Amino acid sequence: MDVELRGITKRFGPITANRNVNLTIRAGEVLGLLGENGAGKSTLMTVLCGLYSPSEGEILIDGKPVRFAGPGDAIAAGIGMVHQHFMLIPVFSVAENVVLGVEPTGRLDRLDLVTARAQVRSINETYGLEVDPDALVGDLPVGLQQRVEIIKVLFRSAELVIFDEPTAVLTPQEVEDFFKIVRSLRDDGKAIVFITHKLNEILEIADRISVLRAGEIVGEGDPKALSEADLAEMMVGRPVSFTVAKAPFAPGEVLLEVDDLTVLRDDDSLAVDRLDLQVHRGEIVGIAGVQGNGQTALVEALTGLARIAGGTLRFAGGDITRASTRERHRLGIAHIPEDRQRTGLIPAFTIAENMVLDTYYDERFSAGPVIRWDAVNRAAARASIDFDVRTDSVFNAVGTLSGGNQQKVIIAREMSRDTQLLIAAQPTRGIDVGSIEYIHRRIAEARDEGDGVLIVSSELDEILALSDRIVVMFRGRIVAEFDGNDPGISRKAIGLAMAGATA
Ligand SMILES: Nc1ncnc2c1ncn2[C@@H]1O[C@H](COP(=O)(O)OP(=O)(O)OP(=O)(O)O)[C@@H](O)[C@H]1O
Ligand SMILES: [Mg+2]
Repeated sequence: MDVELRGITKRFGPITANRNVNLTIRAGEVLGLLGENGAGKSTLMTVLCGLYSPSEGEILIDGKPVRFAGPGDAIAAGIGMVHQHFMLIPVFSVAENVVLGVEPTGRLDRLDLVTARAQVRSINETYGLEVDPDALVGDLPVGLQQRVEIIKVLFRSAELVIFDEPTAVLTPQEVEDFFKIVRSLRDDGKAIVFITHKLNEILEIADRISVLRAGEIVGEGDPKALSEADLAEMMVGRPVSFTVAKAPFAPGEVLLEVDDLTVLRDDDSLAVDRLDLQVHRGEIVGIAGVQGNGQTALVEALTGLARIAGGTLRFAGGDITRASTRERHRLGIAHIPEDRQRTGLIPAFTIAENMVLDTYYDERFSAGPVIRWDAVNRAAARASIDFDVRTDSVFNAVGTLSGGNQQKVIIAREMSRDTQLLIAAQPTRGIDVGSIEYIHRRIAEARDEGDGVLIVSSELDEILALSDRIVVMFRGRIVAEFDGNDPGISRKAIGLAMAGATA
């Protein structure tokens, strides 16, 4: 099935998210869609899958114009989308999730799960998905939940499958497996759209690349003839540097001291196991590791969000083991959480309100019980400009921003105040290369000025670009340490430590 977008324009009030977009997506081909945060990628695909109707323009399938009154029409026409934020019901089984809304009915009109299970198995076999139809979705790791979304789309007989930043939440191994699935879909003649900010991925998997900027297509290219630097420049409109300039490493005294820390999961199993860690002033410590090895629990314990089962935490010389989140915050600890939707933002609040979620009680923003909105709005406007949050007003709800711009609001909030320690988990998830360059520079500047920084990232490139010292977490412990400023540092050794191999 070939699909053509012709002259698509999409406006939201005064904002034009897509402007006169012409794009063809062909059967048996992976089209990579690139663009800065807010360029209009998700909006364009949301139009294609029938959730938004275009303000202007038309969609043609195999040359014939079609009109979608809603996502049901697009699905019936063979277009399916795997959204960045999964839309699964955790307490239902895989088979139940897959049939949701299109239940095959047996005798007496009851949900015929036997048939559903069999269909899930057959899709599994065709594309090598290996998902147990009877597993509870809530028990599955993210990579498998994503496959459930894929099965859902295939169950509805999609011929065009859209993936919106599918790899943002996957581990490197899961990305490899995901690419195998994408290739088998393509070889089976499906048309695929793949959106990502990771340029190496798009070069690996795409057959053709289109670039959006400010809502318009600004370039097309052949991945075989392009480098990451070419793609970055096409997206951002200027060359992008992939290395971070830092002053020579000159660490100060210990700022954060973690001593014998133990944190338990809800089921009382060990998430962090008697861990010791120090962060000095003027030092960036990077925590590398495969997700699920205690990094999240460590960050939550440091920021006061998780209960500590044993050990002590000292910050700037004082004991903060039992300090509340707000106290830690007031002492000068900034936190960029890993899951912006769950713990970083309130989508229905304005950008300005979100910018002061954790500082509104400050003297800068409050006179007694009264919030000084003029000061809040001014600070929010300033921070939005500094961190290039693409919006026309700080009074817009954060939920209407593009994914990457939502992330930039959090970073702007946490990095615009005077702090001593930045704890950043997956800080640049979903952020475009141009903005990553800027954010990395700001992090390096904070460190040059004597702040301590602790970065948790599943992107080894990010850890390597920033860190003075790299520690590897495995099963709740630190199992290896590397000098981040050593030019001969071995990615392979880090990778082995991440996989639990002892040197
Ligand atoms: N429901 C909405 N209401 C108002 N504006 C919107 C809405 N949805 C998207 N926009 C705006 O449309 C523009 C394009 O957003 P879109 O989400 O398509 O960007 P994107 O290319 O997917 O970016 P990212 O890489 O950050 O995900 C942005 O300026 C965004 O604020
Ligand atoms: Mg998007």
